[in-house]
Amino acid sequence: MYHIISIKDFEREELDLILKKAEEIDSAGVAKHTLEGKLVALLFFEPSTRTRISFASALARLGGTSITVDSVEGSSISKGETLADTIRVVSSYVDAIVLRHPKEGAARLASEFSSVPVINAGDGAGQHPSQTLLDLYTIKQSMPLDGIDVGLLGDLRYGRTAHSLAYALSNYDVRLHTIAPNGLELPGGLTDELRKKGVEIIEYRDVKEIIRELDVLYVTRMQRERFPDSSSYLSVAESSRLTPELLEGVRENMIVLHPLPRAGEIDPRVDELPYARYFEQAANGIPIRMAMLREVMR
Ligand code: CP
Repeated sequence: MYHIISIKDFEREELDLILKKAEEIDSAGVAKHTLEGKLVALLFFEPSTRTRISFASALARLGGTSITVDSVEGSSISKGETLADTIRVVSSYVDAIVLRHPKEGAARLASEFSSVPVINAGDGAGQHPSQTLLDLYTIKQSMPLDGIDVGLLGDLRYGRTAHSLAYALSNYDVRLHTIAPNGLELPGGLTDELRKKGVEIIEYRDVKEIIRELDVLYVTRMQRERFPDSSSYLSVAESSRLTPELLEGVRENMIVLHPLPRAGEIDPRVDELPYARYFEQAANGIPIRMAMLREVMR
């Protein structure tokens, strides 16, 4: 069975295949009824706008039907049922499960108890593979994925989208520039793993040091919900705000991405600049998630 749990499980060819399928969906359209009769449970035990709605929209565009649980309170987990039992039961009702969960490793565990494919829609500070695929897709719309300089800015410790993207980019010829406040750097285990895979990683504290040499600047939100206390959050919240002034003199074709939601890291004045691609990025969730749903339910 084909689960999508972590971007680490993908070879470059598999990433490229999903990107190609999404491109085909975007350019040629796809038979509306490809997944007619299929039922997918969207189990979202953490808040979401983009991922939940774009999975539901992608499935509806393919003729399938989604059943959504959008909180712990709305499920029997609130009565003490384990995730394993929940997944065992739900997988007997549907053809696939899309799971968002606050605990790292939850999607992997779910895949072990599920009788249908599981797609990880974000597990704590772990992975967010559908986001990464749409990030790669958005970069590829502007430039090749090889031979580029990518900056990761913000909360790289708790931000799962940065973890997934950094790992995915290790399949390409990319130089990674990480820019994070003290204590919010990429986890050491991840940078070690990436360096072993041959990725050049250069670390900075201030985006000004590198912004003019980047092809892609990937900005992330401070993951307030994962900070141990509010004072440690407040001390870094304003430290990496992207403004039009900071973007003066950057490479002409440079793009700014953000998985969204943003919480002050990007000045809204940046939205009007040609570098801003984060709303196109969010829209790319549709062809990517259509391609993913078709892959797991082939
Ligand atoms: N980028 C992302 O995962 O957004 P949501 O939390 O709104 O799904």
